Amino acid sequence: MRILVAGGAGFIGSHFVKRLLEAGDEAVVLDKLTYSGNRANLPQDVEFVHGDIAVPDDVARAAHGCEAIVNFAAETHVDRSVLSAEEFGHTNFRGTQVLLEHVRQAEIRLVQVSTDEVYGDLEAGGSSRETDPLNPSSPYAAAKAAGELLVPAYVRTYGVHASITRGSNTYGPNQYPEKFIPLFVTNMLDGEPLPLYGDGRQVRDWLHADDHCAGIELILREGGPGEIYNVGGDNEQTNIDVAEKLFALTGADRSLLRRVDDRPGHDRRYSLDTSKLRALGWAPRVPFEEGLRATVDWYRDNRDWWEPIKSGEYRAYYEQQYGARLSTSSPA
Ligand code: NAD
Ligand code: TYD
Repeated sequence: MRILVAGGAGFIGSHFVKRLLEAGDEAVVLDKLTYSGNRANLPQDVEFVHGDIAVPDDVARAAHGCEAIVNFAAETHVDRSVLSAEEFGHTNFRGTQVLLEHVRQAEIRLVQVSTDEVYGDLEAGGSSRETDPLNPSSPYAAAKAAGELLVPAYVRTYGVHASITRGSNTYGPNQYPEKFIPLFVTNMLDGEPLPLYGDGRQVRDWLHADDHCAGIELILREGGPGEIYNVGGDNEQTNIDVAEKLFALTGADRSLLRRVDDRPGHDRRYSLDTSKLRALGWAPRVPFEEGLRATVDWYRDNRDWWEPIKSGEYRAYYEQQYGARLSTSSPA
């Protein structure tokens, strides 16, 4: 198959492109190369179109000859959406609509990559099922929910073939160091303070990028129109427990851990019921301890990937996000 991977220069999208190429498929990448997009995540010879999913001509140019689009393109960071939500509406909602218009006219398939964050948090026990109502808490999650709500509407109204995936917190190589695991790992390797939000007892369900991509690939090949699939790691961990595992792997000094003011609207816990995707034959394969060890090794061995990022635009963002919070922080 020839497949357009929108947002393919980002973290998960680039793993997906490599996976398609290994499977013998043809991949074309459409990416705007925002702060988190990086050509260095991709093989040099991959077909690449520099453009915006919210611009119909860019999408038509990139999707020429493709049988399907898999959409990873998004503004993805909750903390940035708290600082400024404008771009989140543009890409996560408007961009998804432009892609749907294209697949409708070209009569090709779409897989919309969404997130467990659209369910909002589950304070008590239990796990979210695909039929549960959406209850997003952050501007990021709300814009993702708005984008994905267009999908069943286009399926029902126009008969397009489109499916939705809702993945849980993903980790692995090439993740932009604003997110929890790569931020903590790279700060540990540099002996920098580690900003732990609130009490650190929030729970995330960690999924390796390879397992996330395997789920999306299966849904691309076998997913039904209008169907939604949770893709979760069955691996709920508190943030403080993840930090402890990272201390053990990096050997960093525990005194780097700082308790900082919590994120506004911070979701307490996510948990996914994955029985629907498991019934298609998928299961997460990478044990957390192994995946985390390999990820730490990757960041240790690939400073040339992340050091330029951390000395660029990232510095201003980091100062705005953490400067005041770290100066009033306490040891955790
Ligand atoms: P990322 O920020 O690393 O990558 C996003 C990519 O999209 C970048 O390459 C960026 O340049 C590109 N992009 C942004 N706006 C664009 C636009 N208007 N047009 C074209 N390209 C654009 O993100 P990621 O972590 O790889 O996430 C990929 C997808 O997976 C997102 O849709 C996200 O919501 C979803 N997701 C992520 C996680 C996670 O833990 N990282 C979990 C579940 C779901
Ligand atoms: P993050 O990687 O931003 O993913 P999300 O908010 O989309 O789940 O954060 C994961 C968890 O780690 C979340 O509970 C917030 C917390 N966190 C910190 O405690 N400190 C940090 O510096 C960051 C970025 C996140």
